[in-house]
Amino acid sequence: MLSRTSLAALLVGSAAMLAATGSATDPRHATGTPPTADALTAPPPTLPKPSVESLRPLDFPGLHNLVAFHDEVWSGSVPQGEAGFESLKSLGVRTILSVDGALPDLDRARARGMRYVHLPIGYDGFDDVRKVELARAVRDLPKPIYIHCHHGKHRSAGASAAIAVSLGWLTPDEAAARMKVSGTAPGYAGLWRCATDSAPIAAALLDAAPADFPERTMPSSLVAAMVEIDEVHDRLKLAQKSGWRAPEDHPDLAPLADAGRLADLYRMLHDDHRLDEVPASERTIMREWLVRDGLAAAQLEQLIEAMGPPTSDRGALAQRADASLALLGASCTACHRQHRD
Ligand code: HEC
Repeated sequence: MLSRTSLAALLVGSAAMLAATGSATDPRHATGTPPTADALTAPPPTLPKPSVESLRPLDFPGLHNLVAFHDEVWSGSVPQGEAGFESLKSLGVRTILSVDGALPDLDRARARGMRYVHLPIGYDGFDDVRKVELARAVRDLPKPIYIHCHHGKHRSAGASAAIAVSLGWLTPDEAAARMKVSGTAPGYAGLWRCATDSAPIAAALLDAAPADFPERTMPSSLVAAMVEIDEVHDRLKLAQKSGWRAPEDHPDLAPLADAGRLADLYRMLHDDHRLDEVPASERTIMREWLVRDGLAAAQLEQLIEAMGPPTSDRGALAQRADASLALLGASCTACHRQHRD
């Protein structure tokens, strides 16, 4: 197995290999692993399964916009609460692959014997390294596999399309047609390119991808965390501009999930070793700072959540959310002045 960096090196100039031949994908993997004893004793699925023929997404309790990109590979929304995970169980799902930034609900998946894999992607698509990682996970892990982002319309569809083409299951045109069924917005050019620029990936290249299939992916350094904090912060500013709703030209924005992610990122930074990079004399004060900003982000998350019900006093809540975001923004500048610049 190779690290992400050496895989990236291998991918450079491997376009010819990538495009090799349609038959390069090992057919033994294409239809999933043979059933194991526990699969044979599992109760039969009780919900109608999504089909690659269907031109309409399916909805189940706590689970929305299900579209098949292969008989046993389905794209859709994040499973919501007990109901969402019960629906996944009734569908017989064995592996859940999240391409969303938010951390997966591992406990609910584990309680039902399902494995979670977390390989987040952006709104502008993903690089070839991530593509190979995603394709290997879907080739090798037990099926059915459920691939989700937040709404299940844009990122999960783009990822599923790229995977289906990379594994030789669909042509780029067929994969793009499935993205249309998912309702992927035309504005996400990078996600559409994931389908149209894909080609079957040689089995040897898939075999070289990491096979540790992480159940949660967090930024690996302070700088990487800051890059993500910056992206999340930008998306929250966009949502704020349209009254804390997703703007029309960016329908996948999920301000509630983004505020939660921001809180996660601050929390992660203050309680682990990533601050080792900071001079020892500054660590304590930075930790306190990050705790405070984590709490502010968690408060913003609560305010956005409270705006949900139609009976809420949206105006007053939005004002408090504005103040919360302003506080967080001022804190970026202040901390950078003191500890970075
Ligand atoms: C508690 C202190 C602290 C807070 C709060 C903070 N940052 Fe940072 N940030 C840092 C430090 C320290 C670095 C430099 C990291 C390094 O280069 O090792 C940094 C680096 C960055 C970088 C540069 C990353 C790169 O590519 O080199 C960006 C962008 C960034 N922060 C954005 C933000 C935003 C946006 C916020 C607020 C929403 C924020 N930061 C809040 C401490 C902070």
